[in-house]
Amino acid sequence: MCGIIGYIGSRKASEVLISGLSHLEYRGYDSSGIALMHGNSVDVYKAQGKLVNLIEILKTKQDICDISHIGIGHIRWATHGLPTTVNAHPHTCNCKNLTLVHNGIIENYQELKEILQKEGCIFQSQTDTEVAAHLIAREYGKTNNLLKAMQSAVKQIKGAFAFCAIHKLEPDKIVVAKRNAPLVIGLGEGENFVASDIPAIIEYTKKAIYLSDNEVGVVEKNSIQIFDENDKLIINKVEYLPFEAVAISKMGYKHFMLKEIHEQSDVVRNVLSGKLLGINNEIKLEEFKLTPSEINKITRVQIIACGTSLHAGMVGKYIIEKFAKIPVDVEPSSEYIYRDTIADENTLVIGISQSGETADTITAIKQVKEKKSHIAIITNRADSTMARLADSLLPVNAGIEVSVAATKSYMAQLISLYLLSIFLMEQKFGPSAINDEVKTLKQELIELPSKIEALLENASNIQRVAKKYANYKDFIFIARGINYPSALEGALKLKEISYINATGYGAGELKHGPIAMLDENMPVLAILNTGIVYDKVLSNCEEAKARQAKLIGVTNYIADKDVRLFDDIITVPSGSDLISPAVNIVVLQLLAYYIAEYLGKDVDQPRNLAKSVTVE
Ligand code: M6R
Repeated sequence: MCGIIGYIGSRKASEVLISGLSHLEYRGYDSSGIALMHGNSVDVYKAQGKLVNLIEILKTKQDICDISHIGIGHIRWATHGLPTTVNAHPHTCNCKNLTLVHNGIIENYQELKEILQKEGCIFQSQTDTEVAAHLIAREYGKTNNLLKAMQSAVKQIKGAFAFCAIHKLEPDKIVVAKRNAPLVIGLGEGENFVASDIPAIIEYTKKAIYLSDNEVGVVEKNSIQIFDENDKLIINKVEYLPFEAVAISKMGYKHFMLKEIHEQSDVVRNVLSGKLLGINNEIKLEEFKLTPSEINKITRVQIIACGTSLHAGMVGKYIIEKFAKIPVDVEPSSEYIYRDTIADENTLVIGISQSGETADTITAIKQVKEKKSHIAIITNRADSTMARLADSLLPVNAGIEVSVAATKSYMAQLISLYLLSIFLMEQKFGPSAINDEVKTLKQELIELPSKIEALLENASNIQRVAKKYANYKDFIFIARGINYPSALEGALKLKEISYINATGYGAGELKHGPIAMLDENMPVLAILNTGIVYDKVLSNCEEAKARQAKLIGVTNYIADKDVRLFDDIITVPSGSDLISPAVNIVVLQLLAYYIAEYLGKDVDQPRNLAKSVTVE
């Protein structure tokens, strides 16, 4: 993970770097640092903890900040070495001529370190990055050329990296390189930018070049040169960036998470737009590139994803099997990678990822791509690495999601999966397949934004429940059927932002072990939706109540005779079982949010986490 930034131009570099890093905090936030070049000098400032700590240090360095117009910066999510100041980037070589920031993991760093130590290098930190700094500096000693030194060093490095380097003897350039970690160069007039991601530079430019793996670039004030791994000068496509700076502002909400929860009704409208054209019409999904006869040949679907995206995939399994009648396996990417997975040209592989940069999912997709399966990618970032691997790219257009806890991207993934499932069915079985159940689901998708809005307008009950339960140490979420993934996702939301130990179970599994944990100190949240599993979940609630657990019901219907079972009830708008995951999740997101907020937690940047997990 980690975020990197570079600037060269006539603005104050420190201001661009700090602003950029603030927009990269979602990639890590355990320490940060910048290096400012002025004349033939470079000053490095680093701080442990959040970016504000670095900003405080820089307030006392205004003289340097005023005169430096070239610099590189970094925000860290520790992989090698504790999150301390000494391990924070930038790192330098022993003579301090070369300064480097890095995102990624250098797999052969131990081996390289031993060689460099034998050659006399003295290491200050425990990081793999410092190894790269010494290595590039060693190559500079042979070449007296930063570009050539970088090119030679990256050939010796195994693993993932995005690098930004500056050198005192070449004070008019930043040299960059990348492999399996994102890096974008922003183009300005008399100035250029480098960043791990667009939000860091969007306020300055809308034009960018994405570096591909193994490319090395030289970024100067008025020019950019990019070389491929054979040292050939290449011309990369200039792309126009899709985001507005306003998309990364809180717009008056206390936290990004709350803003993003509130954006969900519009997200649903966006995803449906141009695709769901009425309940009697077939779904239009031009992005899906298989023909009806190819769809008919699909014998299995594999969904690979991590975390929240995995939970969306679990709902996807339910609806694809129901409508398209194709068996679906859903697996965490990190597990998929290390076994002999069976996939062939008749397998449809669906990778789901908000960021499109999750290392585990990228590796799994690359692995299965070799088996000639059709790769469909559902992602919020059409400009991501995963998007570039797609045979069918299904962008979800939820807009930039800043809060580490995924909310609106989950909603967008769910809606995409509803559309894809119905689409596959219609392509496979023809228009006659549009039966009443499908028409009802389409109608419910159309009505979903207003249901979400109604829920958000009546959030005071959720707030009340949050306050009542905020001080419990443990929580169990239960549900069955299509809402089982909702229970998992609700528990994940709560634990990641409040640090309360929350676990989701299939309600039927409670009696096979977890019930032993129930007593008056263990609240159980049950998702109860009218439909095939309603009575079963109700019985599971009885079982929990008999063990004195506090019971919270999230439900679209409860008979008067059953109200007694529950300590608290959160009512959701009525709807079918099929659409209910998209409704219930809003309650669970809000509940988690209000509990964390009540406890005073750092909602948008929970401890130990990062938004984009670019390491395996
Ligand atoms: O970007 P991705 O969707 O691939 O990220 C996968 C997970 O890291 C992510 O969903 C994570 O679980 C959420 N941030 C949790 O809210």
